[in-house]
Amino acid sequence: MTLSATDTMHIVGGSASGRLAGELAKNLGAELVEVEVKRFPDDECYVRVGADLDGLDVAIVQTAWPDRNIVELLLLQDAVREFDVSSVTTVVPYFGYARQDKKFKSGEPVSARMLARIIQPQSDAFVTVDVHAPSVVAWFDRIPAKNVSAHPEVGAFLKREGVELVLSPDEGRRDNAKMVASVAGCEADFLVKERLDGATVKMAPKSLDASGKTVAIVDDIISTGGTIVKASEQLRQQGATKIIAVCTHGVFSSDAIPRLREACDEVFSTDTIESSTTAITVAPQVARAIRE
Ligand code: R5P
Repeated sequence: MTLSATDTMHIVGGSASGRLAGELAKNLGAELVEVEVKRFPDDECYVRVGADLDGLDVAIVQTAWPDRNIVELLLLQDAVREFDVSSVTTVVPYFGYARQDKKFKSGEPVSARMLARIIQPQSDAFVTVDVHAPSVVAWFDRIPAKNVSAHPEVGAFLKREGVELVLSPDEGRRDNAKMVASVAGCEADFLVKERLDGATVKMAPKSLDASGKTVAIVDDIISTGGTIVKASEQLRQQGATKIIAVCTHGVFSSDAIPRLREACDEVFSTDTIESSTTAITVAPQVARAIRE
């Protein structure tokens, strides 16, 4: 990006992204700034940056989901801007609302654009990861903006796990499965749904056989887990030896994690959203985007 990313870079991590902020500081050889975040009794957010940032390049790292973390991000931007900083790079590892990137019905907002519009004014550069709607980046139209992919880190992780086949849950995400598989050094395919009768839907790889293989189902977001649970049950019936569910953004609404753990042998996600499944860091990709 246009920023210097020298050893003067300082990383301000929000409470949703402390782990990634630490990894990013290591990757950039940057300083991790102490940040105080707390909630008042009425649940309003309080933040305080514990260092003098005058003259420095600063990266703020905070996932913009759920809503309370968006408010915290905006407060962190304001707190950082109170210093005479050289530049602010806003890193939003998981960009919420990206599934509402257009008006589906009259009267709706374009929610992802709204989020871009409130984050951009306090940023000199913007980085996000595997954003669900790539059009989001275009709404950062006055600053350098990048969407980086977690696939190199996911692929390397799955190689260590001995994965032999990478599957995307549908044809739309087949290219992502291919990129992950190319790093993992194995084959890729996508799952096809076939309605057998009114009550039965079969899901199977389009061309390859999962039987006897360690298989990874890779998606950008796991939300309810419904897609992956269904796919896993079917792959099990087709003789897959081991089934690993992997996503960049582990949203995991309600009881998704226990349901996924029952259906799959392993469940992994990256640190764009921190949870008990977080096992992969996207820090190297974010660091590269900031450096370049
Ligand atoms: C959809 O467009 C996304 O890529 C994911 O496939 C979807 O969000 C997964 O949802 P769920 O976990 O609820 O099946």
